[in-house]
Amino acid sequence: MPAYTFENFDPASVPSPCYVVDEVALENNLKVLARVQEESGAKILLALKAFSMFSFAPLIMRYLNGVCASGYNEARLGKEEYQREVHTYSPAFKQDEFEDILAYSNHIVFNSFNQWKQFKAQCLKEENKHYGLRVNPLHSEAETPMYDPCAPGSRLGIPKTAFAGEDISGIDGLHFHTLCEQKFAPLQRTLRAVEEQFADILPQMTWFNFGGGHHITREDYEVDALIALLKEVKEKYQVQVYLEPGEAVALDAGIFVAEVVDIIQNAGDVAILDASATCHMPDVLEMPYRPLIRGAGDAGEKAFNYKLGGPSCLAGDVIGTYSFDEPLKPGSRLIFEDMAIYTMVKNTTFNGIKLPAIAQWNSDSGQLKIVKKFAYEDFRNRLS
Ligand SMILES: Cc1ncc(COP(=O)(O)O)c(C=O)c1O
Repeated sequence: MPAYTFENFDPASVPSPCYVVDEVALENNLKVLARVQEESGAKILLALKAFSMFSFAPLIMRYLNGVCASGYNEARLGKEEYQREVHTYSPAFKQDEFEDILAYSNHIVFNSFNQWKQFKAQCLKEENKHYGLRVNPLHSEAETPMYDPCAPGSRLGIPKTAFAGEDISGIDGLHFHTLCEQKFAPLQRTLRAVEEQFADILPQMTWFNFGGGHHITREDYEVDALIALLKEVKEKYQVQVYLEPGEAVALDAGIFVAEVVDIIQNAGDVAILDASATCHMPDVLEMPYRPLIRGAGDAGEKAFNYKLGGPSCLAGDVIGTYSFDEPLKPGSRLIFEDMAIYTMVKNTTFNGIKLPAIAQWNSDSGQLKIVKKFAYEDFRNRLS
């Protein structure tokens, strides 16, 4: 299973703030996913919404079969930069973008019968394309309501009751996405629910997409059980099975380097960084979760304690309280762990805060390349 690769990374070797992705760690994850594909016959797609650093597209496409996209921009990026299968799902496609999305995609997944009926005639004029429906088995496994597509009142996916009286001609696949950072058992339970509810439809399909949220590259994931299940489903329904993980592709493959700019005192020491939770690692506030920092402990665990906050004016732009063996000072560099996923794709320039640089590193050779730096124009050009 992939091991931690950043021990020897020197945070002073990059500009701050900066995301750094290790191609060795990425490839280690890809090898696990490739084994799943080879031994099960399933195809794995990278979910671009989690990780779209396309300078790695050639490496990723050496192992995976394509990408999954959420609309025009990702479908185009998938087609132009990744050049393998593009599967596009959106909660609602807009008419004015659909023709292009159709051209960029091999598979399109609809979220409602309304949408399928709206686009059906346009779709069926094409050759060699596949159309599917996202189903909602109303079977919750995600632990956080924010990340539970099966929560009551969800807009994501079609419940079985809505299939009554509908014509599914032209549809050749089903898709579900219900998991979030989960191991094998939740997938197994979800699949059981989907199979029970859609038993009449599955035998008519040629492909079946199990969505994302599978933490396959985590050390304790039951990879062999997954392979056995994928094989079983493939044989039972004679379908091409797809998985479209995002996190699992770049899990623990990236870090985020930040610098202390000032330290102030208010009910303890507060370190203000050049990195912001809200702009640069928004899941810390949205999920919410406490990111790991290399060498730091919980509050009170080590001698020197600091509340770490960002440079924005948002009072809640706080990452948490951490303790260190040595005092922090302006210029000290910090390394936030596991920051390749859902970070650079979600960045904002709120408060005019600079976008972090993006670097590619190789933990075997030590080779470092700054892939992207952002300037004033990147902030300005989005605004008028
Ligand atoms: C439809 C769909 N597919 C795939 C994914 C990727 O999920 P993850 O990055 O958790 O594997 C998501 C994430 O929200 C999704 O909504």
